[in-house]
Amino acid sequence: MHHDELIAALKNWSQLALPYRARVLDLGSGDAHVAANAWSHESEVRYTGIDFSSSAGKIARERLEKIDWQVEMIDGDFLDKLDQLEGPYDVIVAGYTLHHLSGPEQLAVIARARQLLSPQGTLMVYDVVRRDQETRDEFNQRLLSHIDDDWKTFDDNELAAIRQHISREDYPQTKSWWQKSARLAGFGNWHLHFADERDFFYLIEMS
Ligand SMILES: C[S@@+](CC[C@H](N)C(=O)[O-])C[C@H]1O[C@@H](n2cnc3c(N)ncnc32)[C@H](O)[C@@H]1O
Repeated sequence: MHHDELIAALKNWSQLALPYRARVLDLGSGDAHVAANAWSHESEVRYTGIDFSSSAGKIARERLEKIDWQVEMIDGDFLDKLDQLEGPYDVIVAGYTLHHLSGPEQLAVIARARQLLSPQGTLMVYDVVRRDQETRDEFNQRLLSHIDDDWKTFDDNELAAIRQHISREDYPQTKSWWQKSARLAGFGNWHLHFADERDFFYLIEMS
């Protein structure tokens, strides 16, 4: 899902914007592949990852400790855990996790992220994003056709599981929704760092 481009964009951004000893919060961190590859050149990063998969958290910890970051992994649902955190963080990242939530839940997460960030802090979201006039079903159908055409590395069973997951669990928002919600959450700046040529996957900066 365009991880190489996302990593390159996050790396470019960090070289100008990420402070020394940055405090990073990763919501739905998975195995931290993206954060580790985008920011491995940054020293002494203080990283907190939240994921309800403890096995992914274990891989993330091993990966990040190898690059000498200070790592805290939290097992659980970030919807519950966000209220217990204090911050401030320099960057909060949410990659391919928010689209599983309802619109009000996504807005609550980005509003809480604003509170947890330092005044100069940045929220980075990379995720599936609908076109403005597109319904959820139209977007999901478009994505499913793209997957059928292009994701040749998966076998039929894997593709069936991906199709079922998208139909049941994906609730992507539109670009306009993201712009409006960023304002409502208290962010003054909104910047699109990456969108793939077919208009599915976006990397959005809010600060
Ligand atoms: C598609 S993976 C993305 C992982 C990583 N952010 C990346 O970009 O490669 C989604 C991850 O988010 C986690 N996740 C999704 N919703 C979550 C939630 N509400 N709380 C904690 N973890 C969540 C899943 O367990 C999974 O590891």
